[in-house]
Amino acid sequence: MTDYFQHLTHFPPLPGSYLKVAQSRTYLNPGEHNEFTKLTISATSPFFKLTQSKFFKDLVEKFPTTMSPVFFKIKPMELYDWHVDFGDITSGINILLSEPSNSFTLFKVPAEFKNRYKLVRCDYAQFVPTVFDSTVPHCVMNLSNEDRYLLKIPVRTVPYSELTQYLLDYECRSYDQ
Ligand SMILES: [Fe+2]
Repeated sequence: MTDYFQHLTHFPPLPGSYLKVAQSRTYLNPGEHNEFTKLTISATSPFFKLTQSKFFKDLVEKFPTTMSPVFFKIKPMELYDWHVDFGDITSGINILLSEPSNSFTLFKVPAEFKNRYKLVRCDYAQFVPTVFDSTVPHCVMNLSNEDRYLLKIPVRTVPYSELTQYLLDYECRSYDQ
């Protein structure tokens, strides 16, 4: 387990159709900190079987504070500024759907001197689920000329280490059933 994020390379990649759904939606609702927009995906969405899958049901059974998946969109040359996730969201599963050539997800941790930080890059791979520690300050920069899309399953109050251990031990076969 790494300190701030953990790629779940033993999970199947999310199908590419999720990117098409993310791109087809209209992003209207103000997001956290009003810095960007997000769309909550309904569990009854006809596009979407994830929330009906064994994987998701098992996750909710183990961690009842698991929230509905949400899409996040970050526009070209947009910064989602340094933050920790709002409320009591402590961890979650992030899945990068698009792969702009020049976008960065960074954590910062205090370094030796005041106002200096060590940067740790979360090197997502497209469609590969990644457990994310939302309690460590992080930001996203999209320096490309394409929109960046991400699917997030937020989890409240569960420590990153606990969620990660569960998922490293979990065998996920499908997101559709
Ligand atoms: Fe965040």
